[in-house]
Amino acid sequence: MNELTLIGPLSQVIPMTGIPIKGPVSDSQLLVIENAGILCSDGLIKSIDNYKNLASEVKDLDVQLIQLEGNHSCLPGFIDSHTHICFGGSRARDYAMRNAGKTYLEIADEGGGIWDTVQQTRKATQKELVRGILKRAKQHLKNGVTTIEVKSGYGLSVEEELKMLKAIKEADDQYPLDLISTCLAAHMFPRDFKGNSSEYLSEISEQLFPILKKDKLTNRVDAFIEKGAFNEVEITPYLSKAVEMGFDITIHADQFSVGGSEVAVKFNAVSADHLEASTSHEIKLLAKSKVIATALPGASLGLGCDFTPARKILDAGGALAIASDHNPGSAPMGDLLTQSAILGTMQKLTNAEVLAGITCRAAAALNLDDRGKLKQGYLADFSLFHTADFNEVLYNQGSFKPCMVFKKGKLIYDKHK
Ligand code: NIG
Ligand code: FE
Repeated sequence: MNELTLIGPLSQVIPMTGIPIKGPVSDSQLLVIENAGILCSDGLIKSIDNYKNLASEVKDLDVQLIQLEGNHSCLPGFIDSHTHICFGGSRARDYAMRNAGKTYLEIADEGGGIWDTVQQTRKATQKELVRGILKRAKQHLKNGVTTIEVKSGYGLSVEEELKMLKAIKEADDQYPLDLISTCLAAHMFPRDFKGNSSEYLSEISEQLFPILKKDKLTNRVDAFIEKGAFNEVEITPYLSKAVEMGFDITIHADQFSVGGSEVAVKFNAVSADHLEASTSHEIKLLAKSKVIATALPGASLGLGCDFTPARKILDAGGALAIASDHNPGSAPMGDLLTQSAILGTMQKLTNAEVLAGITCRAAAALNLDDRGKLKQGYLADFSLFHTADFNEVLYNQGSFKPCMVFKKGKLIYDKHK
């Protein structure tokens, strides 16, 4: 027997259907379904139609009714396709030093930077990491996020990366949101490794990759291509091995200097993320490819630097996703709704482009074709906002939160309870 739930009436449902994966989107391309109901069956969307019609269709069936009073608008559950919410410690000191004018190198010399978080994360037990992930995932849920990508990358040894990826899996098993893990063992060269960068990367690909496959810990591999992290020559054998083993590739690209998006395109990565330093050459390259360009406005806000040239990427015909990059160093805020609204303001993105960036286009960045839109057969992941006009959501730049969030057809967050 199917478990049926009918939710409504809804002033507006924005299903994000009919939106192309690439290029600009005008607000008039957004389909708006008014006076609607959403019928869910076993966690999936069965139909979206006029509420009264749906209610009469199901009146003789065993159906759970979630009847709403007042105005509610419904958007697909947001997808945060790039985070680092598995970590130990804090980098509040880095933030203060950076704002007081210290450089990246000075902060690292005084014991800050990624290496500081590596040490704090190595000190943490798997259980402590799980608690941290759940605390941050809850914060994302309150923004209407129903799928979160979570990277490792603060372990930087076979054993410690495994601890992080097991913690992400444990948190995923315990929590209704979907946590999609990614191995970021190529985040930086670990200072305590006995050998050079290439030796470190081959140890990871030979020893860690087979365990990730065998224990189904992740099917995604990420690398930070940057001065002081890894270059194209060092990373090529590593990514070739990952592709050969069937991992999806994603790249931290063009954050401070260019080079990463070339690597992403060469390896048919699902996404190239950051791109704050991309020039017209990289923008064209990405636009011609299938790689999803992911802007991380939270990192621009955390570091006080330029935003990703999102408008130019879209105008060149590229695919733009938007993610929070939530991490203890460059992006401590972890508020996707605020950050994507601000990126829209600063880059002159239409509401449709911003919403596509955190729904259907973010799903493509994770290679997921079961979410990011509200249509028959897709996951019943969506949020309700107390308004008759969905444009209020971005207009309030993140201060207007959902009142209810549904994951796989179940009410998992109710602001008033
Ligand atoms: O995406 N750019 C590299 N990695 C992270 C920062 C991680 C950190 O500072 O801890 C990022 O911004
Ligand atoms: Fe990142």
